[in-house]
Parts: sequence; structure tokens; C-alpha cells
Amino acid sequence: MKIAVLRERRPHEKRVAASPETVKKLIGLGGTVAIETGAGDGARIPDQLYVDAGAVIAPDAAAAVADADLIFKVQRPDPAEIANAKPGAVIIGLLAPYADKDALAPLSANGRALLAMEFIPRISRAQAMDALSSQANLAGYKAVVDAASQFSRAMPMMMTAAGTVAPARVFVFGAGVAGLQAIATARRLGAIVSATDVRPASKEQVESLGASFVAVIDDEFKQAETAAGYAKPMSAEYQAKQAALVADTIRKQDIAICTALIPGRKAPVLITEEMVKAMKPGSIIVDLAVEQGGNCPLSKPGEVVEVDGVTIMGHLNVPSRIAQDSSNLYARNLLNLTGLFIDKTTKTLSVPWDDEIVKGALVARDGAIVHPNLQG
Ligand code: NAI
Repeated sequence: MKIAVLRERRPHEKRVAASPETVKKLIGLGGTVAIETGAGDGARIPDQLYVDAGAVIAPDAAAAVADADLIFKVQRPDPAEIANAKPGAVIIGLLAPYADKDALAPLSANGRALLAMEFIPRISRAQAMDALSSQANLAGYKAVVDAASQFSRAMPMMMTAAGTVAPARVFVFGAGVAGLQAIATARRLGAIVSATDVRPASKEQVESLGASFVAVIDDEFKQAETAAGYAKPMSAEYQAKQAALVADTIRKQDIAICTALIPGRKAPVLITEEMVKAMKPGSIIVDLAVEQGGNCPLSKPGEVVEVDGVTIMGHLNVPSRIAQDSSNLYARNLLNLTGLFIDKTTKTLSVPWDDEIVKGALVARDGAIVHPNLQG
């Protein structure tokens, strides 16, 4: 069983899909691992560390994927990267299945199977494979650190001989995985933190981290969570009530961290232009939702802009800004998934196509797009 790990080629991507630790473990499972040269450079993992772990270094993508049974990527590959893959090879990565559905079919040519890490079901057995969580967690942390580094004040309260420094006030939009980590990080830095979400379950989680929960709690709020644990798009009436509440809250904040998302849809707009204008000069907005259109319409993908003294940070691919740790965690997510594919006695590849996790993540097989969310 050969596993190929390709170098990432897209802009803003420094992560890599294997670490020396996971290479060792994949070999322990019975695999051989080929790493495309330079694959780990962005995450500060030189080729030699992979060699020390037992991998071979391939000079290019074609050599890496030749005869590979499994192909590991962070982001969706281009057809050229995998042109040399054998029929039936299994390609695993963050395939961005909703972003450009038409680009998936060419990747599945030649009977290749495509598994999207975004579609790994959120069941307890799959928690160790949940790349959305591992990456969102680090993005939530990094968003707060980015804000703190840009902020012209301190985060914690400080009592000094020259006087007291007031603590920063941080408001977090969306208390999912990224939002909860943002709350925890801002609290550790000493800020006074509040947060909003539309899912009732998030109230207790926010409060258990020592932050206050701000939300319009009505009948719609009580029904806002899908069976899969995600938020539903809210009605225009709810959005208007939420906007009034947010407008009142945000004026008093120094930092807003935006993480509110609805899978497969445009991100909800939560901080309008008027709200930005009502914020104090020197305030910071970090919009982690910028790739899905942003929670603030003034945020610009890939840019840090200033509007009326408010800095709006729209960094793309925030997990890649912390590439060493995000790679290590993502690599472990892939290792844990691969564990399902290997027959422990014969140490050979045997994909359990009927397993709930594999079925959940499977985008394409035998030349057809098979995932229900991508039909029609
Ligand atoms: P996400 O990235 O899709 O969205 C982020 C947050 O934005 C969510 O909490 C969502 O409710 C919120 N949001 C959406 N619209 C909003 C609006 N109009 N105003 C305010 N907030 C809004 O969600 P994420 O982080 O992927 O987590 C979704 C759920 O899945 C959470 O309940 C999380 O605890 C759960 N989960 C379960 C796992 C498991 O294995 N059981 C693993 C990871 C997450």
C-alpha cells in the first residue's frame, strides 16, 4: 500500500497533509510513504525529517502519485497534479466540495475515489478525523492573536503605578468550534468576552468559558439547530431583531471576532457598515467568515483594511497562518481516517465503502459524483 503526499500549490497554503509522526505511524500500519519534495517547507518540515521517519522523497507530483493507493492533500488537487494516479486511487483532502462542484468530476476520472474531509460525519467515532474542527480550533486561536497584535491597547486589565489599564472587550460572533476557541483565547489574555450564536446549545458552552451570552432568545432561536448540530439560516424577522441587539452591543466593544457560518451557504451578515461606523476608533474586526462572503460586508478577502479608524482583518486561510500545528493536527486526522482503510491482519488496503464515515465523506467513486449534498 503506497501513500502519496503532495506539495500544496494554491496561494496562501502552507500546510502539508503528513507529519514525520504520521509518516512513521502510516509505515507501522503497513504502508510506504512518498512525499513530494518540498511538501513540508511551508510548515517548516524539511524533506530530511520525512526521510528520517521512513518516507521516500519523490522529485515531483507525477513520481509521488505513481502507483499510489492513497493520495493525501490539504486542498483540492488540480487535475495535472494527479494525472499520473492509477485507476481506482483514493484521493483525500479538504476538497471544498461546495465551492466549485464542476471541478470535482475531472478529479474522479479513471475510477478514482474522492473523499472530502469536510464531509466526515460529526459522530463521536469520527471526532479524531474531524479536520473542520481541528482547523477551526486553531483559526479561532489565531484570530484573537492577530487581533491582539494589531490592537493599540493591551488585552488584560493592568494595575500599574502610573494607573490602571482597562481590559479589552471582545465580542465573538458564532460560538462553534472556532468561536469557542476564540472565547477561551481572549479570556486567557485577560479580555472581557461576550458572544452570540443562534443555536441554543451554545449558550451553556459560552457561559462555561466565562463569557456572557448575548442573543435574541425566541421560539425561532429554540429551533435553530439542525440534527447535524449546525445552524439554520434565520428568518428576516429574526435577523432584524438580532441586528438591533448586536448594534447596541458592538458600540461598546474593542474587538469583534466573526466566525458565524452556515454550511454550503453565504455567511450571515452580522456587522453592517453602520455598526462598523459606530465602533470606537482603534477597534478591530477579524472576519474568519470572509471566504464565505464575510460576517461584515466591509471585510476584503486577503486584506487588512481600515474604515473610520476600525481595522478589519480578512486574512484568507487562517489555519495556514499557523501551519506547523494545523499540519500536525490535519495529518493526524488523515492518519486516523486511514486506520479505517487497513486490514489489520494482512496490513493491506481494504476500504470499508459501507462504513458510515466513509459513506459520509465519499464525494465520487467509479466515475460518478455520489454525495447526496452534491446532486442536482
Ligand atoms: P460552523 O463553522 O458551521 O458555524 C460557526 C457557528 O456560527 C455555529 O456555532 C453557528 O451556530 C453560528 N451561526 C450561524 N449563523 C449565525 C448567526 N446568524 N448568528 C450567530 N451565529 C451564527 O459550525 P462549527 O464550528 O463547525 O460547529 C457546528 C456544530 O457542530 C457545533 O454545535 C459544534 O459543537 C458541533 N460539533 C460537533 C462535533 C462532534 O463530533 N460531535 C465536532 C465538532 C463540532
